[in-house]
Amino acid sequence: MSAAQVWVVDLALRPGDLDRCGAVLDGAERLRADRFLRPADRARFVASHAALRLILADALGVLPAAVEIAVGPNGKPELADAAEGVLQFNLSHSGERALIGLARDTPIGVDVEAVRPMSDALRIAQGHFAADEVSALAKAPRSMVERRFFGLWTRKEAVVKALGSGLSLPLDRFSVSVPPDVPRLLRAVGDESWDLDGPWTLMDLDCGADHVATAAVQAAEAAVTCHRLSDDWPDHLGRKGATPRLR
Ligand SMILES: CC(C)(COP(=O)(O)OP(=O)(O)OC[C@H]1O[C@@H](n2cnc3c(N)ncnc32)[C@H](O)[C@@H]1OP(=O)(O)O)[C@@H](O)C(=O)NCCC(=O)NCCS
Repeated sequence: MSAAQVWVVDLALRPGDLDRCGAVLDGAERLRADRFLRPADRARFVASHAALRLILADALGVLPAAVEIAVGPNGKPELADAAEGVLQFNLSHSGERALIGLARDTPIGVDVEAVRPMSDALRIAQGHFAADEVSALAKAPRSMVERRFFGLWTRKEAVVKALGSGLSLPLDRFSVSVPPDVPRLLRAVGDESWDLDGPWTLMDLDCGADHVATAAVQAAEAAVTCHRLSDDWPDHLGRKGATPRLR
């Protein structure tokens, strides 16, 4: 495997696919799935976790249902078997897309967001993001503010997801470039808990016109390859073998 792989998954399922996806989940995933009130939210959760299992199973040479996933010390999901700890992964889902990142020996975070109306995007940025990010976003033409806001959001979110920190690392402690500038970490002030030092590779990903997405790898100039699962991917959940890909 190259340094990192990112997989784009279309979550629009065909009849019968939801049952195929549900069949490979473990008990904890099924309990979480059952808590969703809206069938669409439940389906997105079930499909994205089944796709994650398919991709991890291919990398590990096991069946999707046999992949053992645990929750790490800060809530970031990881492989349960310490011997497999060198393979790191991260999952994101929004709208009709899931994004799955895999990396060996290095932290990876991914984030996808459906671009949607956000009339108070600048106010939210002012409340949570770093001052240099806010001033770059404020220069965006009005018609581009939402798209750039979500692009910026995915860049920051991918970094905190690589770290595993969630919101315990205040989001104004670091800044990233704002689209359309090339993605990179500009400034970082880590602390004793969260080490932002050292090189990072950020990459924007093509998830279709209605979504924006970023992968972040805590390594210098990591080679990140981007693939897309073919639409019949749920047919492969009961088998061991090559992951069905379109690119
Ligand atoms: C999980 C978290 C890190 C991201 O959540 P999100 O962007 O709403 O949702 P995503 O779909 O991108 O990611 C969710 C997945 O991340 C993974 N995840 C959960 N905790 C994680 C952590 N601490 N670190 C990395 N990944 C985590 C899980 O696989 C989860 O999927 P699941 O809920 O289906 O099991 C969230 O807890 C968080 O703290 N988000 C920050 C919210 C924010 O204000 N962001 C502003 C823009 S930077």
